Formats: sequence, C-alpha cells, structure tokens
Amino acid sequence: MKKRILITTEIPEVAYQRLSPKYQVDRNKTRLTESQLRSRVGPYEALLILADPITREVIQAAPLLRCIANYTVGFDNVDLQAAKERRIWVTNTPEVLTEATADLTWSLILSCARRMPEGERMVRKGKFKGVHALMLLGADLQGKTMGIYGFGRIGQAVARRGRGWDMKVLYYQRHREPPAVERRYNAHYVPFERLLRESDILSIHSPLTQETRHRFTRKEFRKMKPTAIFINAGRGLIHREKDLVQALRKKWIFSAGLDVYEFEPKVAPELLRLENCTLLPHLGSATVETRNAMACLAAENIDLVLSGRKPKTPVFDI
Ligand code: DGY
Repeated sequence: MKKRILITTEIPEVAYQRLSPKYQVDRNKTRLTESQLRSRVGPYEALLILADPITREVIQAAPLLRCIANYTVGFDNVDLQAAKERRIWVTNTPEVLTEATADLTWSLILSCARRMPEGERMVRKGKFKGVHALMLLGADLQGKTMGIYGFGRIGQAVARRGRGWDMKVLYYQRHREPPAVERRYNAHYVPFERLLRESDILSIHSPLTQETRHRFTRKEFRKMKPTAIFINAGRGLIHREKDLVQALRKKWIFSAGLDVYEFEPKVAPELLRLENCTLLPHLGSATVETRNAMACLAAENIDLVLSGRKPKTPVFDI
C-alpha cells in the first residue's frame, strides 16, 4: 500500500507531480482550521502545509506522522517540542525564497519612501491635476542608514541591495556575525537602542520567537527618528499593531511598509485608514519561480523522509 501524504492547501502543481507517482497524495483546497486538521491527519505519514497550526493536539491525532514539511521558511506555526518528542522531522524552505523576499522588502522601502500608494490612490480617484512642486514629497534613500533586525539570509540579501543606494548598514540580533560576513555587507553590529535611534529604514527579518514577539511596541517607536521608515516582511507578531498605528498617526515615524500583520489575515481597521503606510497581503515569496522552488523543496524533503533518509532542510535534527 502506498504511503499517504496530505497537502493541506493549494500550492504549485509541481509538488503533486513529484510525489504522486510514488505516494498516495490527497490535496485539500481551502485552508483548514486546527480542529479540522485534527480530524483529518490520522492516516498520513507526511503533511505538506502552508503555515497551518500544527499544535501538539494535531500531532497527537497523527500516529503515523513522520514529516511535517512547511511550505515557508518560518516555522513558528509548528509545536517543535511535540514534534521532537515524537521524532517527527519538521522541514522548511530556506534559501530558495531569500531573493524574492528581499525584493519584496525593497518594494516596500521604495513604496514608503516615495509615497507610492498615496500617489496611486490620487491618480485612480481622478485627483491628479498635473505635476506640483510640493506634491507628495518623499525621502531620498541615497546614503541613508539601513537598520536590520535579524541579520540572517534575508536580512543580508536586503543589506546587499542597499549597496545600490550606498547605504550604511547597521544590524542587531542576539549574536554577532563573523567579521567576514560583516565585511561582505559593510555591516555594523550595534546595540538594539542604537538601531532604533540611528536607522532611517528599520527592517524586520528575525524569526518569530518568545524573544522577538512584540519587540517593537510604543516604547521602541518613540525612540525612532520622525523620518524613519519601519518595514516588516517577517512576522506580524514582532510588532504590536496598535502601537504602530499610534506611531503612524502621531507621526513618531514617517511611514511603515507591512507584508505581515499581528492578527493576520485581519488588519487593524485604523491602519487601513492611514495614508502613511503601504500594506501588502503577505507576498514575500510570491513569485512563480520562487513558489515553484519552494514546492519542489518541500516535496523533496517529504520524499527523503519517507524513503528513510534525512531531509534536505530540517528545522532540527532528530
Ligand atoms: C515564509 O516563508 O515564512 C513566508 O512568510 C511565507 O510566505
């Protein structure tokens, strides 16, 4: 009998094509809730998921489970401890989405700096009456200071793009990178407080953990420059949304570019009413090439585990 795999939501066809000749692959189209997952996962040895809540209870409901393949680089949706206890592999999709996510981050930076959504809305509403010397003035990026919170692969790819604007790069995370990495990006490791005070653009690229959860609240926004641009294309829970709304409303900072939200997919209604922000629907890795590469990698991880081998990109070793 073929081993069974559940793909919990629609992802590029290539994953199915790769797995279906060898395994019985069931595909679900709509997103499943935690309780729906609990009632569905019983017969499966592998799950291919897109940020679904894989709680201890879901894992307990899946006695045959050997691999949880996350179709994302972040894995804060999985109870890692519960998976470890059962010796279930958890995998993610690092590297293949680095460049696309860095590009998206830069789209947000440019959009905020040049007030693109405001301009777009003006044109669409028929309010554009010709060029005006004082209309929608934004900020130059040339030579500015880029602050990066979380200097992993994506943070570094964002820093690399900053060279095109001759930016100074500051970064903060728990550990300092080796000198070779700092030299490669001309990046300076600074205390968190300095990152807040000196960044013209402050971009979030850390994983969501107990330590990074709500790391950016009223107190932090208060310390940033009034001209600063805050970008979050990582995880929404790293900033507190109501505090960000206050910071934008009171002009403690210039603008914010968000691809992720604290209560995703819900977005604070106040945020929707503010002009000085760019809001995207979690598009970080959303390019055809990248999403196909993520699907191939997730499928490969499952195939390796179900063939008795170590997956290519495990989140931890078992
Ligand atoms: C990731 O890979 O973690 C992204 O947020 C999902 O697109």
